[in-house]
Amino acid sequence: MRLFHAPASPFVRKVMVLLHEAGAADRVTLVPASGNPLDPGSMPLDRNPLGKIPALERDDGPTLYDSRVICRYLDDVLHAGLYPPAPHLWDTLVLEATADGIADAAVLMRYEEHVRPEASRSAEWVEAQWSKIDRALTAVEGRWTSHLAGPVDMGQIALGCALGYLDFRQPHRDWRATRPVLAGWWAGFARRPALMATHPG
Ligand code: BEZ
Repeated sequence: MRLFHAPASPFVRKVMVLLHEAGAADRVTLVPASGNPLDPGSMPLDRNPLGKIPALERDDGPTLYDSRVICRYLDDVLHAGLYPPAPHLWDTLVLEATADGIADAAVLMRYEEHVRPEASRSAEWVEAQWSKIDRALTAVEGRWTSHLAGPVDMGQIALGCALGYLDFRQPHRDWRATRPVLAGWWAGFARRPALMATHPG
């Protein structure tokens, strides 16, 4: 299998963390790829017409894209067990979707601040993205802490990748100040070998 890969992407990191947690990082060849909303870069559009990274080229089927699809596929073929059976599955999927929403808003902030031509940038739009992240982090602190204390799953991994991306690209935004439980959880989770091996920097 070949994974179109950019080390800074929190969505690529989800896939890489899953592979490391499953002891299967050597099953995938990494293909460096780039792209953003203004420029598809080197991401082949015949593999993902949306031009987004990650995309997973399989040996025995069409290329998969969207990190949630790729993670479900790899979890299945590698028997990684990072998606529990229902009814716990629904919690895992909602936490993964929440974390992906945080990462998505943070990537949009990055594009607005660094990719969009300077004259068109909107500080108001950036702050609107941050408000979304802020609300989601508060919801995680309020509602998800018992889930975070449970077995490692793809919801936790996605959350770790989103928080790691905030620390990487928005280090001046102190999300920890009002979220001591989440901050403590991330301090421990970030030390897992799979997270250490996939640091975006
Ligand atoms: C970044 O450099 O922040 C980035 C790169 C690829 C995908 C998403 C974000």
